[in-house]
Amino acid sequence: MAKGKVDALLGIVFGDEGKGKVVDVFTPRYDVVARFAGGPNAGHTIIFEGKKFVLRSIPSGIFDEGKLNIIGNGCVIAPDLFMAEAKELEDAGYDLKSRLHISRRAHLILPTHRVLDRAYEAAKGKNKVGTTGKGIGPTYSDKASRIGLRVGDIEENFLQKYQALKARHEQILSDLHFTDYDITEEEEKWMEGIRYMSQFPLRDTEFEINQALAEGKNVLAEGAQGTMLDIDHGTYPFVSSSSTCTGGVCTGLGVAPNSIGEIFGIFKAYSTRVGSGPFPVELFDETGEKIRDIGHEYGAVTGRNRRCGWVDIVGLKYAIMVNGVTQLIMMKSDVLDTFETIKACVAYEKDGVRTTEMPYDTEGWQAVYEELPGWQTDLTQMTSPDQFPKAFQDYIDYLEKALERPITIVSVGPDRAQTIER
Ligand code: IMP
Repeated sequence: MAKGKVDALLGIVFGDEGKGKVVDVFTPRYDVVARFAGGPNAGHTIIFEGKKFVLRSIPSGIFDEGKLNIIGNGCVIAPDLFMAEAKELEDAGYDLKSRLHISRRAHLILPTHRVLDRAYEAAKGKNKVGTTGKGIGPTYSDKASRIGLRVGDIEENFLQKYQALKARHEQILSDLHFTDYDITEEEEKWMEGIRYMSQFPLRDTEFEINQALAEGKNVLAEGAQGTMLDIDHGTYPFVSSSSTCTGGVCTGLGVAPNSIGEIFGIFKAYSTRVGSGPFPVELFDETGEKIRDIGHEYGAVTGRNRRCGWVDIVGLKYAIMVNGVTQLIMMKSDVLDTFETIKACVAYEKDGVRTTEMPYDTEGWQAVYEELPGWQTDLTQMTSPDQFPKAFQDYIDYLEKALERPITIVSVGPDRAQTIER
């Protein structure tokens, strides 16, 4: 961690890698924690001192007094959900308004964006993306179409702008014959959310971040989702609509590429995916169920079952390449404690063709595995790498060799304390 740099913490699989926990552990080392992409489709679970919080739009540095937290310009924000999330933290005694700034350039998710999300999904039939239903895609579409509403719009003639965009959405919904919806109550809460949100510092946060960097402070960019859900580099079209990779840090915060320092790539000792789309390592048998049960792999936002499988070296290598990952962080290693053998996907195969490079279209590829012995030891009480059983140390060495990056942090349980640095 160098002074005056932005370090990035990025999910490098399909999200849900446990970024919230790590960023919370990292926060004491940084002056600013910023979210640069995504919105309430994320659910970052943080557990400490027996309390559990799920953060959706708010950066995970919020629990530390004296840190500046920023919701950056690359994010999309739903005022009603933001209000609910923020009030829960305020009720728990955290003073948010002094430590959370929101970019005036971030885009607003309207209630009708969420209806559009449902309408577009319904229209897709069996090719549904399986979105979180939070209006993410339609909001980023409006941003790209240059008709979206930004946080800064709240400050002037807001109602007029809101009604104009809402009318536009209603027209699209009517054209799609998707008319069975009622947003009356939701809209009321949403407007309340707008009033609540305006009490926060709404700022040109790119200046604040660059000023902090110029003063030699360091910034942690907290990713959301993961590389495989990136609009450019993910398994398109089964992706989210934002730039979840390192490039997204620059555009989503307004910082230059040469201000980026360390790039931490976070993954689990196995793989998961929520929603539809190709997932070559998916296990449909009891091993997959066992991983889901032990790892509590149910979506933090939607409660859906996460699809589970072994670690995917093809995907990880691709993610390391497009993000420029400098260090790896392996989460939830303890979930594999009871397995006799562990597998790792080292290639994909389709129609007699074998590849170790992420294909353009991951549909229909089968995973090719290598098998390793399991450690069959409880890792959860371990506090230092010297306590690791040999088979677990071998798994770490195997992954480091295959991925050509050091695994500098290993997590062995949900608590802050169960995070081991190597
Ligand atoms: P959207 O972001 O709601 O549009 O959903 C697009 C795809 O990304 C769906 O497959 C979602 O399940 C997935 N997705 C979105 N956010 C997350 C997340 O935070 N973790 C895991 N999957 C996510």
